[in-house]
Amino acid sequence: MQSINLTKSTELKFKDTSWDFQKAFTKYSNHGFHTYPAMMIPQIAKRLMETYGKNAKFLLDPFMGSGTAILEATLHENFEKAYGIDINPLALLISKVKTTPIEPKLLAEEYKRLMTKCLEDKKIVNFKQKTIEKPNFTNIQFWFKPQVITDLTIIKNNIYLIENKNIRDFFLVAFSETVRDASNTRNNEYKLYRLSEPMLKKHNPDTINLFKEKAKENIVNMKEYYQNYNLNCKVKILAEDTRHKTSIQDEEIDLIVTSPPYGDSRTTVAYGQFSRLSLQWLGLNNKDVFNIDRKSLGGIPTKDLTNNLNSPTLQETLKKIAANDPLRARDVLSFYVDFDKCVQEIHRVTKKGAFLCFVVGNRTVKGVQIPTDEIILELFQSRNHYKHHNTFIRNIPHKRMPKLNSPTNISGNHATTMNEEWIVILEKQ
Ligand SMILES: C[S@@+](CC[C@H](N)C(=O)[O-])C[C@H]1O[C@@H](n2cnc3c(N)ncnc32)[C@H](O)[C@@H]1O
Repeated sequence: MQSINLTKSTELKFKDTSWDFQKAFTKYSNHGFHTYPAMMIPQIAKRLMETYGKNAKFLLDPFMGSGTAILEATLHENFEKAYGIDINPLALLISKVKTTPIEPKLLAEEYKRLMTKCLEDKKIVNFKQKTIEKPNFTNIQFWFKPQVITDLTIIKNNIYLIENKNIRDFFLVAFSETVRDASNTRNNEYKLYRLSEPMLKKHNPDTINLFKEKAKENIVNMKEYYQNYNLNCKVKILAEDTRHKTSIQDEEIDLIVTSPPYGDSRTTVAYGQFSRLSLQWLGLNNKDVFNIDRKSLGGIPTKDLTNNLNSPTLQETLKKIAANDPLRARDVLSFYVDFDKCVQEIHRVTKKGAFLCFVVGNRTVKGVQIPTDEIILELFQSRNHYKHHNTFIRNIPHKRMPKLNSPTNISGNHATTMNEEWIVILEKQ
């Protein structure tokens, strides 16, 4: 293992509540199109771009999620290209739609046609004058009531009749939110838990109306976006994996703004579970739907604790966790083994002088807090000289992440998670 000269400096790391954005409205422009776990606050992305991206033209979010950073880049004047990478097909769809301007008039016309057709079809189907073929994926009856299945099928069939792909995708995003809202899941959770029996009895959503309202809201926001986006910024959404060599050129990027996953998806945020019902309704095959969490960082546990990651802080932390629970230490390690591969790729694609901004969570496993902010610093500094500018510690004011998080997939089995995030700023020298 190469020895590294750490430029860890406590004066550079401090609590800064000006990054909290306590009461900020986070759903302006297209930011509110679709919920997604652990979304970045757009005000943070904006401030990072304004502070560290003054001369930047090529931005990358290597863990794009629902596309907060790339959308914000298209609202910023100086970017020519904004790249986003994700392995989750739902994230790719949401991000594409949020950053694809569509003339509001076209959307309004299509919306009118679509809603008229949906309501007509609902009448015809309810009066049994027509039968429709409904999807039949695993457990559909468990997650959706029969009337909801009928209504979602009607909406989906009519959306698929739209010829213009960008407009079709736009309505599919509103459809995906409707799938979630009309399902039998507890909506305030990212993992899939079914409503309790008493709640289920009362749950009779007006699915077509839910869709109508969501689509309308998104059209209003698109109107604002259409007037404000930067025509010169091209968005490139890559359905790739940041652990491997991506299609971005060597040293092409001069600003990274990103929030990586907090840890492996088994024990932190299960992006695959969150996306499953939407993706099943969108017709993805089971293999793609069920593989998301395995493809996420740390999705496949390492065999043991042997590793050559160049981060003394990580090695210390692993030892402490392993003393309590070697299996959990392996989960933690598997995440950082994958993360280190991403560090390698980010290192390859960034220019000298580029700023790298990471918004990370330092989660606690078996009573041991994992200082991801320090680990990131060490993993980058072991490769090259990266200047550590600052680490700002912010409070997480909204319920962007559940304050209580199930460490297993067992409902009710809770461990506290984070109330703070660390914003790490590095500059490649
Ligand atoms: C914290 S979320 C990002 C949220 C995003 N900032 C937003 O505002 O919506 C992390 C994302 O990393 C993605 N991810 C996990 N493993 C990945 C990998 N190997 N390559 C690329 N993306 C990955 C997950 O699918 C998830 O969408």
